[in-house]
Amino acid sequence: MTPLILTISGGPRKDGCSARLLRRFTAGWQAAFIHYDAYECRFAPCSDCRFCREHEGCAIDDMDGFFADFERADGIVFASPVYNMSFPAPMKAVIDRMQRYYSARFFLGQRPPIARFRPAALLLSAGSHDEDGSIVASQLRKIFTVTNCELTCSVIVNNTDRGGCVADKENEIRSAAALFAASVGLITNSSQ
Ligand SMILES: Cc1cc2nc3c(=O)[nH]c(=O)nc-3n(C[C@H](O)[C@H](O)[C@H](O)COP(=O)(O)O)c2cc1C
Repeated sequence: MTPLILTISGGPRKDGCSARLLRRFTAGWQAAFIHYDAYECRFAPCSDCRFCREHEGCAIDDMDGFFADFERADGIVFASPVYNMSFPAPMKAVIDRMQRYYSARFFLGQRPPIARFRPAALLLSAGSHDEDGSIVASQLRKIFTVTNCELTCSVIVNNTDRGGCVADKENEIRSAAALFAASVGLITNSSQ
């Protein structure tokens, strides 16, 4: 069966570095893709209403489709710029809305809240030469503890404010993409 890959972009620029990185990372994959653009989706932030402590799911229904796709995907790819050492606000809203899975695990006793394991990749762009993306990676690893995902690879393109670009990381992108593809079990066209 063709693997289903969920991609989530966290940057506002359609042809920005993180968008290009995502395109390069997934080039040649024989997969079905579902893409979410956090800036276009404008998902509401978590309001800590605590509905999810007593009910399965979220009281705000704008992410119902996203959650269904997130749970059925075979692999997840997060692509985002680094803003003030974190995700841009619309992407951070997506991360915070994963609170429903913490509640499912710790208040509703679901072990695990999502039955299927899914590998995940993190692709980042950063203006500075020394941003390592570790805070963003930690944020993802935290939600992965309750969403049955594991960060199998990450790539960061640095120094984009001074000409850094996707081509700088060509070899790293290829190896990370091959690793991720193997973990998801998808076939790649390596000439891409
Ligand atoms: C609001 C804002 C905050 C930013 N904060 C950081 C930061 O903390 N560290 C960093 O290295 N670059 C930072 N940058 C630079 C972006 O990460 C960089 O320009 C990135 O390549 C943009 O991604 P894009 O090309 O996909 O849009 C920031 C940019 C903006 C607009």
